[in-house]
Amino acid sequence: MGTDAAATTAGKVVWHTTMSLDGFIAGPGDSMDWALRADLGPTEAGTAMIRDTGAILAGRRWYDMSLTRPDWAPYGGSWQGPVFVLTHRPPAPPPGSQVAFVSGEIRDAVATARTAAAGRDVVVFGPTVAQACLDADVLDEILVHVVPVLLGDGVRLFARPGADRPVQLQRTALAESGQLTDLRFEVTRR
Ligand SMILES: NC(=O)c1ccc[n+]([C@@H]2O[C@H](COP(=O)([O-])OP(=O)(O)OC[C@H]3O[C@@H](n4cnc5c(N)ncnc54)[C@H](OP(=O)(O)O)[C@@H]3O)[C@@H](O)[C@H]2O)c1
Repeated sequence: MGTDAAATTAGKVVWHTTMSLDGFIAGPGDSMDWALRADLGPTEAGTAMIRDTGAILAGRRWYDMSLTRPDWAPYGGSWQGPVFVLTHRPPAPPPGSQVAFVSGEIRDAVATARTAAAGRDVVVFGPTVAQACLDADVLDEILVHVVPVLLGDGVRLFARPGADRPVQLQRTALAESGQLTDLRFEVTRR
């Protein structure tokens, strides 16, 4: 298996996520240990995503979970830039932090992140924010790292009970790196 479209295009809104083979992006109790195994090193697609990222747009739950790790930093500290966290309960920003808290319409939050990204990609973290971006028709791509584990329960990649029609995607890249399988898709709308 090889990469059939390694190059990335700047200026997109990209949902970047890790997923278990059975479709969960977090395990029971929001656990992420399964995705942070030492043997699941950075992949070429992940490294390229970090290189192309100009801003991160994330949800408050992701932020709160991230803070439980003592060494919190986006992408393990290998990336520096503005992080916009959507929340209805904004705390005081940590002094000197790259984090800003935002609320309101998802389109406005994406526009704020786009401006900060200055022509590079906006990366979306968390399924709630990603689904809001899909609903607002502002999500361009999805990059998924598939981890060879079956979790059985947790937070699903995507759930829309009663959905009347699927979200159509077109695969633009397929690659493997060690035990990880990378899949990149373009959202082709509905
Ligand atoms: N596998 C991966 O790569 C990956 C990546 C990211 C996250 N995760 C996991 O995904 C789980 C969290 O996902 P999630 O989708 O449930 O939560 P989330 O997107 O991190 O956060 C949702 C929260 O964000 C706030 N929010 C969202 N939209 C808003 C808006 N328009 N205005 C104001 N506030 C807004 C709300 O918080 P308040 O109302 O409380 O303020 C909402 O409850 C966690 O377990 C996390 O670890 C996994």
